[in-house]
Amino acid sequence: MYIAILPAIGIVSHILICNMRKNMLSHRVIIYCMMAIGFLSYMVWGHHMFLSGMNPFSALVFSFPTLMITIPATIMTLIWLGSLYGSNLRINSASLFCLGFISMFVSGGISGFFLAQPSIDIYLHATYFVVGHFHMVMGVAAIMGVFAGTYFWFPKMTGRMMNETLGRWHFFLTLIGTYAIFMPFHYLGLAGNVRRYSAFQDDFLVPLIPVHKFITYAALFTGAAQLIFIANLAYSRFKGPQASANPWECTSLEWSTPSSPPPFDNFGGQHPVVHHDPYQYGVKSSTGDYVMQTSPEPGAAS
Ligand code: HEM
Ligand code: HEM
Repeated sequence: MYIAILPAIGIVSHILICNMRKNMLSHRVIIYCMMAIGFLSYMVWGHHMFLSGMNPFSALVFSFPTLMITIPATIMTLIWLGSLYGSNLRINSASLFCLGFISMFVSGGISGFFLAQPSIDIYLHATYFVVGHFHMVMGVAAIMGVFAGTYFWFPKMTGRMMNETLGRWHFFLTLIGTYAIFMPFHYLGLAGNVRRYSAFQDDFLVPLIPVHKFITYAALFTGAAQLIFIANLAYSRFKGPQASANPWECTSLEWSTPSSPPPFDNFGGQHPVVHHDPYQYGVKSSTGDYVMQTSPEPGAAS
């Protein structure tokens, strides 16, 4: 499962740096945290089985790495927030989806923290609380990373810009819609609503039917909001304004080749020479406040 979120973590960190116009407090620590999550994720599978009849001691053993995984997750979040603090974030569809990702990642991570404790999981396991938890991290946060990446790299891939107004509508409606769907799941779980169960006529579930109805409307609403994205993709692909080689003023290599890149060699036979590490922002240069990786101009001290 954690594999599902790692690409989004990388995408979001990269896009945020470009839009903050400054490096993260430490992008290396973010990379170490991603490695720690990748490593620990091999050891947490037993947390799905606390209630399978396993020896309570084994549950404790699996609980430990599961709780440990919240440490790199928290460090990364603090680095994102600490770096955002005081930065002049450029607001666009891609950076908004990055903020949405952080919000959802934190919300889903907090519920994971409860589930990681076997004694609390006795009550919450196989309820909608779990369904709420994993949709927030896997169903929404990871997909917000995909949206952020699409808005960011679409100009590079197609040579055309996406429509910003539609992108922002898509973001805000999706953010509101997904919270409206997946927050109530947690309350259903706390009220004892088991998952994978359809007989809602059972006495103790009847009072919860309005919550399910609300979630259904919210899901239809959120699904409809995705039509804005699909329309934007289709329209921009053919009619969007022409994109320059580097519309977001980023430093990494892909922005040094035309949008879209030449068909048979990304760099058109002119292989780039790398002079710097990828994040050279807030530096006075001939291009403004950044130095491309391919530029021999002096960059920031790293
Ligand atoms: C912040 C750290 C996280 C912790 C501490 C955590 C903990 C847990 C625990 C203990 C469970 C089992 C609950 C139960 O069945 O009773 C669970 C379920 C689940 N988690 Fe997480 N989780 C975290 C982050 C994530 C992430 C990042 C993803 C995916 C991107 C994820 C995906 C899932 C899924 C898919 C399930 C349920 C699978 C199923 O039963 O169908 N979790 N989580
Ligand atoms: C509007 C969007 C979505 C809604 C309303 C939704 C709703 C649901 C509901 C109600 C359940 C389980 C019900 C039950 O246990 O009885 C479920 C299961 C699940 N969903 Fe979603 N979902 C959505 C999107 C997604 C996405 C985008 C992902 C993954 C990236 C995802 C992954 C899963 C998984 C892994 C399960 C567990 C299947 C199982 O119980 O074996 N869902 N979803």
